[in-house]
Order: sequence, then C-alpha cells, then structure tokens
Amino acid sequence: MTHRVGVVGGDGIGPEVIAEGLKVIAAAGVELETTDYDLGGARYLRDGVVLPDEVVDEWRTLDALYLGAVGTPDVPPGLIERGLLLKMRFDLDLYINQRPFVGSSHEFVVIRENTEGTYAGEGGFLRKNTPQEIATQGSVNTRHGVERCVRYAFELAMTRRRHLTLVHKTNVLTFAGDLWERAFHEVAEEYPEVDTAYNHVDAACIYFVDDPQRYDVIVTDNLFGDILTDLGGAVSGGIGFASSANLHPGQVSMFEPVHGSAPDIVGTGRANPTAAVLSGALMLDHLGESEAADRIRAACANPDSLPGSTSEIGDLIAGRL
Ligand code: NAD
Ligand code: IPM
Ligand code: MN
Repeated sequence: MTHRVGVVGGDGIGPEVIAEGLKVIAAAGVELETTDYDLGGARYLRDGVVLPDEVVDEWRTLDALYLGAVGTPDVPPGLIERGLLLKMRFDLDLYINQRPFVGSSHEFVVIRENTEGTYAGEGGFLRKNTPQEIATQGSVNTRHGVERCVRYAFELAMTRRRHLTLVHKTNVLTFAGDLWERAFHEVAEEYPEVDTAYNHVDAACIYFVDDPQRYDVIVTDNLFGDILTDLGGAVSGGIGFASSANLHPGQVSMFEPVHGSAPDIVGTGRANPTAAVLSGALMLDHLGESEAADRIRAACANPDSLPGSTSEIGDLIAGRL
C-alpha cells in the first residue's frame, strides 16, 4: 500500500534535511506517493503566496505531511511562521505536538499543546508608533483545548512508564495555570495507574539539564513546550536529533524536525538530517509502518559517531537499512 504524503521542504536547511529523510524512508522499503509543495519564504518573495486555503483543503485528503523548516531572514519575522506553519497546525487542528527525546541517561517525551496559548494570535496594538504605544499578546486557554491535550498525555503515559508531569507557571500565571491544573487533576482521576508530578517551567529547565531521568511524559502549554523542546534537544545529543509530530489523532498529521531553517549553516553541508529522518520515522508510525519506523530509529547514528556532511549522514543511515 502506498501512502500519499505532501512534502514541504521549505526554507534554509529544510530541503537539505528532507531529501535525506526521503532517502532513508525509501531505503527502509516504504513506498510514498509524494507531492511537493513549493511554499516558504522564497515562494513568498517570488509571488506573495504563503499558504492558500485550497492547498490546506487538498492536504486534508492526504495521509500525512512532511515538512523541513520555514522562515528566513529575508522576510519579516512571523509572516511565514504564522502564515504557513501555524496556519497548518491551526487549520488542520493538529492539537498535539509530540516531541520525543533520547539521551545517554534519559528517554522522555514532551506533549506540547499546539493550537492555543500565546500562539493563538490574541492581542494587538493601540496607538502604534506613538510614545504611548501599547502592545498586548494574550494567552488563550480553552477548557476543551487543554483537556484534550492532557487526556492525550495520560493515554500516552499508560503505554509507557505511567508517569506524567505537568509543566506550567501556576505561581504567576494564576488564570491559565489554574485552568491547566484543574483540568490535569480532573483527568488524572480517570487514570489512577498514572503517577503525576508538577514542575514550574523554570525549575523544569534545571531538571532537563541536571536530572532528566525523572521524566517519562511531560505535558505543557504551547510556548513553554516550544522553549523546553529546544532545551530537550540540546541535552539529548543536539538540536539536530530532535524530531516531532503534529497530530490530530485519526486525521492527516504533520511531521517535522524541532529545529528551524538554520540560515547560519544553509548550503554548508553541516545540517544534521537525523531530526528529519527521525521525524520521518514518526510519520511512518502514523502511516501504520511501525516496523520500518523502528528499523530507521535503530539505524540512526549516535551523536559521537556522525560522519561529515548532511548527505553522508543520510547515506550512512540509509546504508544500515
Ligand atoms: P534554528 O533551529 O533554525 O537554528 C538554531 C541553531 O541551531 C543555529 O545555530 C543552527 O545552525 C542550529 N541548527 C538547527 N538545526 C540544525 C541541524 N539540523 N543541524 C545542525 N545545526 C542545526 O533556529 P533560529 O535560528 O532561531 O531560526 C531560524 C529560522 O527558522 C527563523 O525564521 C525561525 O522562525 C524558523 N524556525 C522554523 C521552524 C520550523 O519550521 N519548524 C522551527 C524553528 C525555527
Ligand atoms: C517550532 C518552531 C515554531 C514554533 C515557530 C517557527 C513558529 O519554533 O516548531 O518549535 O514556535 O512552534
Ligand atoms: Mn521552536
């Protein structure tokens, strides 16, 4: 059975790492019917197109989406990130951002709420460009959105070591934090087998570095999850190994590395494609190809034995398959 996958290489190192991901998937013997979408900063600069609604509608009919990275210094910040990546997550209601981390002493997964919080776009300017200018950027937390994310995290914990940590900042964000905490404790009653813990996000930064073994599953809001998962990558071999899945269980979902377009190393061959390869493995899990996904994970080189360039790393992993 072939799987229909939309591919957005995107900007910077995005296309470089996605090429290696597709190479490895082919080497694992999985056939994909891919459609390339020329989207990102370069496309925007060419003809002003960011992400048309018709393209999103087409994506709804596919089995999965595979994305490199988007965003470039040539375009004002947020234009592509919000107009393409967040539009993708929001329009397809990809409410779970699952980001697994494996280090020498730890193995945990962050479940980041992916459609709300400070990312929702609430806010605006008053008196812009005057000395009295005001900018607000609110955090939107719906009971529905928080609860479905928390429930997903408990379900995932049930399949693992049955330990779930809520990370937030309840000592300061007393409205959003209170809603998260209540939803977390109410859903916890449905999962008496799962041990629960709570960390403030600042303390979680310490534990990510000093004591990551304490974690099994972490659930957190959109912005905390964004920041924590770059740190998760940094303490798990490097950002070039950090993979992610943007999920709406049962519907088309999107798979991409945690890292961005890395304009500082584009074209140098220094981009580590492993994050894209491992994101491809998460995509194969979603497509019902878990056996191939497990073989890809097993084939990924450990951080200490990486050969030189982007394509050499891709070749090494593909060769092991
Ligand atoms: P970045 O993740 O692109 O880069 C941060 C640092 O990590 C850089 O030094 C970079 O060289 C390094 N790095 C990243 N990926 C690497 C890899 N695979 N191998 C080796 N080194 C790697 O973050 P940034 O510089 O803050 O953002 C650059 C652009 O990417 C911005 O426009 C940002 O909005 C965008 N971005 C996009 C995504 C995405 O599409 N999912 C994610 C994050 C950032
Ligand atoms: C990520 C990225 C995105 C985010 C940006 C590019 C919108 O940093 O996927 O981690 O903040 O979610
Ligand atoms: Mn990020």
